[in-house]
Amino acid sequence: MSKKSWEFVEGNEEFSLKDPDKINSLYFPLANEAEMMSAITPSLHGDIKTGQNTFAMEPVSAIDLHNKKSSRNFWVVVDKEEAWSATGYSAKQEVYKFDNDNSEEVTLEAGMLWHKITRENNKLNLKSEVTNFVPSNDDTVELMKVKITNTGNKAREVSPTAAIPIYGRSADNLRDHRHVTSLLNRIETVDNGVEVKPTLSFDERGHKLNAVSYKVLGRDGDGKSPVGFFPILEDFVGEGGSLAWPESVISNANDYCESGEKFEGFEAVGALRFEDVTLKPGEEKSYILAIVIEEDEYEEDLAAKYCSTQGFNAYLEANKDFWQSKINKVQFDSSDEEFDSWMKWVTLQPTLRRIYGCSFLPHHDYGRGGRGWRDLWQDCLALLLMEPEPVRDILFNNFAGVRIDGSNATIIGSKPGEFIADRNDISRVWMDHGAWPFLTTKLYIDRSGDLEFLLEEQNYFRDAQIYRSEKTDESWSSEDGNKLLDEDGNVYSGTVLEHILVQHLTLFFNVGEHNNLRLEGGDWNDGLDMAEDKGETVAFTGLYGRNMLELADLLRSLQEKLEIDKLEIAREMKLLLDTLNDKVDYDSVTEKHKLLDNYFTSCESVISGEKVEVSIEDLILDLERKGNWIINHIRSNEWIENKEGYKWYNGYYDNDAQRLEGDHSSGVRMTLTGQVFSIMSGVATKEQIEKITDAADHYLKDESVGGYRLNTEFNEVKLNMGRAFGFAFGEKENGAMFSHMAVMYSNALYKRDFSKNGFEVINSIYEHCKDFETSRTYPGIPEYIDSRGRGLYHYLTGSASWLLLTMVNQVYGVQGIVGDLMLDPKLVKSQFDKNGRANITTIFADRNLNITYENSEFVEVNDYKIKTITINNEEIDFNLEDGAAVIDRELISKLDKDKEHQLEVKLG
Ligand code: G1P
Repeated sequence: MSKKSWEFVEGNEEFSLKDPDKINSLYFPLANEAEMMSAITPSLHGDIKTGQNTFAMEPVSAIDLHNKKSSRNFWVVVDKEEAWSATGYSAKQEVYKFDNDNSEEVTLEAGMLWHKITRENNKLNLKSEVTNFVPSNDDTVELMKVKITNTGNKAREVSPTAAIPIYGRSADNLRDHRHVTSLLNRIETVDNGVEVKPTLSFDERGHKLNAVSYKVLGRDGDGKSPVGFFPILEDFVGEGGSLAWPESVISNANDYCESGEKFEGFEAVGALRFEDVTLKPGEEKSYILAIVIEEDEYEEDLAAKYCSTQGFNAYLEANKDFWQSKINKVQFDSSDEEFDSWMKWVTLQPTLRRIYGCSFLPHHDYGRGGRGWRDLWQDCLALLLMEPEPVRDILFNNFAGVRIDGSNATIIGSKPGEFIADRNDISRVWMDHGAWPFLTTKLYIDRSGDLEFLLEEQNYFRDAQIYRSEKTDESWSSEDGNKLLDEDGNVYSGTVLEHILVQHLTLFFNVGEHNNLRLEGGDWNDGLDMAEDKGETVAFTGLYGRNMLELADLLRSLQEKLEIDKLEIAREMKLLLDTLNDKVDYDSVTEKHKLLDNYFTSCESVISGEKVEVSIEDLILDLERKGNWIINHIRSNEWIENKEGYKWYNGYYDNDAQRLEGDHSSGVRMTLTGQVFSIMSGVATKEQIEKITDAADHYLKDESVGGYRLNTEFNEVKLNMGRAFGFAFGEKENGAMFSHMAVMYSNALYKRDFSKNGFEVINSIYEHCKDFETSRTYPGIPEYIDSRGRGLYHYLTGSASWLLLTMVNQVYGVQGIVGDLMLDPKLVKSQFDKNGRANITTIFADRNLNITYENSEFVEVNDYKIKTITINNEEIDFNLEDGAAVIDRELISKLDKDKEHQLEVKLG
C-alpha cells in the first residue's frame, strides 16, 4: 500500500491531502498584511486574531486543536431530522470518524493562502466544500464559503445554521477574568449577523474602554440574509448540550431572535440561521460568512462586499494573485519538481513570521506578539531576497535598538524602529545578538553595493540597563526616553558602522576564564540560559571573529570605492581600539576585563558627544588583529579528540567553567552548534572539516528525525548549562533535529565547498518532511522534528530564511559581492534535470533574472567550471575569481526593469 502524503498539483505549490482530519496537529495559516492572523485545521478549529488582546475566536495551543469544541461550524438539519456538521465537527461525526460504515470522505486542498475541505457523507448523500481565506487587503476579516451539494437521487430539505463562537477579548483572559469579561459583552443582532462589543478590555494595559468589535456576518450565495440568530452561547447549546451537539440545532429550533435585538453579558456565538431550502438531486447551495475584527469602524458594508458568491470568488482570486506574486520572486526549477514546489512554501514562511511573529500559531514559541531581536534580523535575510525595496529602512531602524554597551533592546514593537524598555525588568542579554545585524547588513551591501549605508547616522537605545545588564542605572527613569543622550542633553547619534563596531568590540573583551566570549544569558540557543557566570560559547566566539575579519574587508571596499580614509567614532569607543592606543595582551583575561570596564564606565549614563577621527587603515588593523587572534585561539585550544578517535570542536564551557564536549561518564557529548560556527567562521581547516563531518555523522546524524540532532544525549539535567537539558532528549533545544541549526550547518558546509555534505543535510530534512506518515506536517519546513519524527512549530521558524538564503546564495550560487553579481553554483549532479539544466528565477539590482545552468555532461560539483555566460543570448565578459564568475553590476542594471532576462550559464 502506498504511503499517505500530500500531493502537489503538477508544477505548482497547491497540494491535496486525503483524510487530514485524522491527524491531530495539522494547522494552516490564513493571514494578510493588515495582520489578520488565523490558524485553521481540517475540522475548522483554530483561532482568529489581530494581536494578543484581540482574539475573535478563543486562543488555542496545539493541544486544543482536538481538545476544544470551539470551531468554525456549519450545521444542516436534513429533512428536519438529522443534524450534520458540514465542517465535520459534531459529537456523532467524531465517533463515526473511525467507523468504516459511517466515516466520511475528507480531502484537503490548499494553496497560497487558502484552505478548502471537501467532505462527502455517502449515507446522507451530502457533500460540503468549505473554503476559507483572509482577503489580501486592509480588512481584518476571515471569509468562509460553505457549499452544500445533494449528491443523492432524492430531494433533501436542509435547515442551515452557521455557528462560530465569538471570544472577543484578550488572550490574557483565557483563565484570568474569563467569566467576568463575558459580563462586559454587549451583543447585538444586526441584519446579517451577530456583533459583540465589550464595554471594557481587561488586560495587561489595565481596564480600559474598549473600541474593538467582533462580528460574524453571513448571507447565502444569492445575497439573502439569515432568517434569525442564536447569539447567546448558553442558549444555543442548551442545558447539557455543547458546541459539538448544540440543542438549538439538534432540535431544529425556530425560537431564534430577529435582527435588532440587544443583550448584555454572556458568552456569545455567531449562530446564524438561514432559511430552509430543498436541494434537488445534484443541486447545491452556498453560504458566505465573514468573521470580522473591527478596530476602526468600517465605512463599507462588509456583508455586501464579501457575502455573495461573486464577491467571495473575486477576493479569493485576488488573494491567490497577491501571494503568488510574493513567492514568485524567487523560484527554483531543478530535477526534483516536488522539492521545487515544497520550496515555495519555505519561501512564504519568512513573510508569515513577519506577520505572525513567534506567538500566533498554535505551536507558539514565545511572547505575546512582536518579535525577538535575533529573529528580526534573520527574517530580513529572506526579505532581502524577496522584497529588497524596503529593507534599507528596516535595517536602519533596527540599528536604533543597539545600546552603547553593545547589547540591545529585546522587545521590539510593531512599528519600524520601535523598541520597548523591558516591562518585566528582565536583564537577560543574549551574547549572539550583536553578531546577526552585521550578517544581514553585509548581505544587504553585497547585493546592493550601498556602502554609504555604513555611514548613515542613527541613535542608540537607552534604558536603565548598563554594563551589558550587569548593572542598573538608578538615575534613569522612563520619562528620560529611550534614546542615548550626550552630556548636553542632545540625542547622540553615530554611524551604522559605529553601531556594528560597538557590538563586536565590546564582546571581544567580554571573555570567560578560557578566554572565549562569555555565554551571558544565552546565545542562539535560548535554552542555554543557566551559565551566566562562567559559561562560554566557543561557537559564537568564532562567528564574532569571522565578522571582524569580514568587516575589515568591507572597510577596504569603503576605502577603495568611496575614496575615504578616515572615519569618526565616539571618543569613548577609541578605548576599545587598543591597537591604536595601549595594546592589550589578548591572552590576558584580566587585561581584557579591565579595558572593558573602563569603557563601560566612560559611557555609563551619558556619552560625551565628542567624536574622534580614526584612519580606516588603523581600524582594519585593529579588527584583523582581534579576528585573527580569535581564530588562532580557538584552533589551538578547542580542537578535541575523544577515546573513539573522533575529532571536532568543543562549542561551550558550562557554569563551572568545565568544557562541555568530549567523552563523559554518561556518554559522548557533542553539539552541532560548535561545529556549524567553527566551519562557517573559517576556524576549522579543510582537513578538520572532514573530521568534523565524520564525527557529526557518527554522533549526531539520525535518519529517523531527518538528519543532524542539535546535541547528543547528555543524560543529565544540566543545571549549570540551561533549561534545555530539562527537556526530554530529542525535543526542542535538547537534541532535536532543530531545522535552523541544521540548515546553518548545510550553509556552512556549502560555504567551505563541502557541497555534497551540504546537499545531504537539506535533502534529509526535505525527505523527512515529505514522508507525511512520519512528519505529519504540511509542505514547508518546521522548526524541529521531535523524538517520534513529527514536525513541530510549523511555518514560524528562522530556518526558512536560512534555507532560502542557502538555496539562492550557495546551491544556485547567486550572490552579491559589494554590488556586483557573482555566480558560483554548487548544485550536485542529481539536481540537474534530464537535459542537464537547473534554473533559478531571482531578483538582482532590481532586475528579474532567469538564470539557467547548463551542465550537459553531468559533471559533478567541484569538478565543473563556468565556461560561458550569455544574457538574452549575447555572450558577456566576466571575471573568474576562485571559480566564481563576477559580473559587473552595470551590466545588470542597464537591463530593462520591466522584463525578465535570460542568463544562460554553461558549465563543464
Ligand atoms: C527559535 C527562536 C530562535 C532561537 C531558536 C533556538 O528558533 O525563534 O530565535 O534561536 O529557537 O533557541 P526558530 O523557531 O526561529 O527556528
